[in-house]
Amino acid sequence: MKARIGIIGTGWVGTSVAFSTLLAGHARELWLYDQRGAVAEGEAMDLSDGAAFYPRCTVSAVPLAQMREADIVVLAAGRNGKPDESRLDLLRDNARIAAGMGRALAGFGGIVIVVTNPVDVLTRVVAAAAGLPPERVIGTGTMLDTARLRERLAGHLKVSPTSVHAQVVGEHGDSSVMLWSGANVGGVPLRDWPGWPADEEPTLAGHVRRAAYDVIQRKGATNHAIGLVTAELIGCIVNDERRLLPVSRVQQGACGLRGMALSLPSLVGAGGAVQVMEPAMDAAEREALAASAVVLERAFASLAG
Ligand code: 2OP
Repeated sequence: MKARIGIIGTGWVGTSVAFSTLLAGHARELWLYDQRGAVAEGEAMDLSDGAAFYPRCTVSAVPLAQMREADIVVLAAGRNGKPDESRLDLLRDNARIAAGMGRALAGFGGIVIVVTNPVDVLTRVVAAAAGLPPERVIGTGTMLDTARLRERLAGHLKVSPTSVHAQVVGEHGDSSVMLWSGANVGGVPLRDWPGWPADEEPTLAGHVRRAAYDVIQRKGATNHAIGLVTAELIGCIVNDERRLLPVSRVQQGACGLRGMALSLPSLVGAGGAVQVMEPAMDAAEREALAASAVVLERAFASLAG
């Protein structure tokens, strides 16, 4: 299956999403929009020049209004963080942009994927501005944190990341929650793995939370990993895969959370993030998730002030 995919914002992140999506072959038409019209046009021309090297797809720069005709729209517009600026520090600037884009997508019949940070708060902002149901406005959320955790655990244990089943929930940001208690490696509980240093879990969690800061300090932005994450999420929707992914959406009661958007394992298919599941958590993890929800609720409330 292939879809018409629109990307709003063709900066570092939007172009990486475009590139990964093209190579993965999920799009039959890829539409780019940026308020700097010439930049979107240039990116479309550049990507089109490589058409011999990815599955058939046309790439074009389009007016914002055309995004309403897409099957999936990715929102990647906004400014990115400076070194040591948290994702929540971007809130005010990017919320204004996200609300405007949400209003432009009012009545949209497809699925919106929010990538711009702070992704959880903006997922809620876009859902409200567009008036779309929670399952059709999905933030990439902790899919990236989960990929980072699996990669680091795999390195530590010297096994393939595909054998590491561990996830991160809550905020995509400083209050993210690693679910150590349910993590397993090929069915073996992580904490029973020979030599697993459980006392190093906080250090590893710190590395996962610092990952974006470490990249931004060196190159000014993160883009490739989030591009791959977003293409994976697009594929899951386009092919109606019904995989459980840790993505963000406005919560409606799972884990006792309601109103704020944050990541929990969600069933993702053609209809979006259609069902939110409750992961196994120990008491400390439940408490950390509740604290993460409070951080996000406060951040959203601060927009009103
Ligand atoms: C990342 O985690 C900055 O949210 C972006 O790479």
